[in-house]
Amino acid sequence: MKLIIRGGLVVDPVGGKAEISDVVVEDGRVMAVGRAAGGDKAPGPGAPGGARGSARDDRTTVVVDASGKVVLPGLIDSHVHLREPGQEHKEDIASGSAAAALGGFTTVAAMPNTDPVIDSRTGVEFILKRAGEVGLVNVLPVGAVTKAQKGQELAELGEMAAAGAVAFSDDGHPVSSAEIMRCALEYAKTFERPVLDHCEDLDLVNEGVMNQGYWATVLGLRGIPAAAEEVMVARDIILAAMTGGRLHLTHLSTAGSMELLRRAKDRGLNVTADVTPHHLSLTDEAVRTLDYDTSTKVNPPLRSESDRGALLAAVRDGTVDIVATDHAPHHFDDKDVEYNYAAFGMVGLETAVGLIVTNLVGPGYLDWVGMARLMSLNPARLLGLETKGLLRVDADADVTIVDPKAEWTVDPDRFASKGRNTPFAGMRLRGRVTETVVGGRLVVSGGKLI
Ligand code: DOR
Ligand code: ZN
Repeated sequence: MKLIIRGGLVVDPVGGKAEISDVVVEDGRVMAVGRAAGGDKAPGPGAPGGARGSARDDRTTVVVDASGKVVLPGLIDSHVHLREPGQEHKEDIASGSAAAALGGFTTVAAMPNTDPVIDSRTGVEFILKRAGEVGLVNVLPVGAVTKAQKGQELAELGEMAAAGAVAFSDDGHPVSSAEIMRCALEYAKTFERPVLDHCEDLDLVNEGVMNQGYWATVLGLRGIPAAAEEVMVARDIILAAMTGGRLHLTHLSTAGSMELLRRAKDRGLNVTADVTPHHLSLTDEAVRTLDYDTSTKVNPPLRSESDRGALLAAVRDGTVDIVATDHAPHHFDDKDVEYNYAAFGMVGLETAVGLIVTNLVGPGYLDWVGMARLMSLNPARLLGLETKGLLRVDADADVTIVDPKAEWTVDPDRFASKGRNTPFAGMRLRGRVTETVVGGRLVVSGGKLI
């Protein structure tokens, strides 16, 4: 099938440009990018902004009219929880893939804190097999750092890398032993894989449930200090310097972490980091505004306004490399309990683009090139995906089309994800994914799965 995406603002995160162009893809590859690359005829009749032709017929040419829209290299989420195997009542690879596609993500990296934990070759093979059967977006397995994520013994990193694990992480849990983290960085380096580091000192967390500060005091909830994250960020930057390993700090949430990251980069260390759309959009005050709504309970917690300001500044000046959702679907039963007992986590795949366009692109913290770097190019580089993250001839035909002006209201009942746990329900957002193309195949058109 040949696909012509005509007349959109095509964003090139490598060249740092955004220009009105056509993109032509065929056989899973980008064939041409440029003005009139897709022919100079105006698009024929068809649903406005929609696709013409039949996606099922291999000989057809499908034309997508992208005028007024932004055409980005397929978005890549380097941090999602798809809950399969073992917790399919929360999410599975099929529902998570559908949520990803609708959210504009063509590739996602699936965290290994499933049941059982993905800590072996068989586990990695299972994820790849299931993802292939679902066949909607690229689902890349992340292997555990330690066996069963218990933090005691290194998992079989080499076997998992050989089977297709793109990174290693004990996400959901810290690697509490500095010696095991040192070994993990050494080993992962030999397999050219990054360690995605969930930074949390459990002694400092001390059963906290929200950010330690004014609102925790007012609300009478136990606080998690910023230091619980920052001492681990500092420790692991020191270990990255010691080992030369590839350290990626995930879901950083505090001003102090931004400062540590900035200094590590100034020293030339091979350290990168991501922040989430929710830490960029909300503060701990949301726990009060939403009246103890447990969808605000997330790990790391929503932080103070000055922390949020520091994250925004670090995104703007390029200190932060990636925006990743930490999509963490939970079942109603895990959240419909007192705040202290609720599970940590919120869904993110279907609100990420709306939040980033509304809260970062709109106010000028980011332009489209910046968004494409944070949500496509840099995650592609982190995960070693050389033919992704760019819209150039010969790149993979993964494309995300966004209508930057479309306004919509977040309605969790309409999510493809099984998780409904979002604090953004009812919020008006601007910026909506209209088309998602994976490997040259249109999987979302007119904002709907096809
Ligand atoms: O809020 C979170 N939820 N943070 C994590 O680190 C894990 C995740 C989950 O698996 O639910
Ligand atoms: Zn996570």
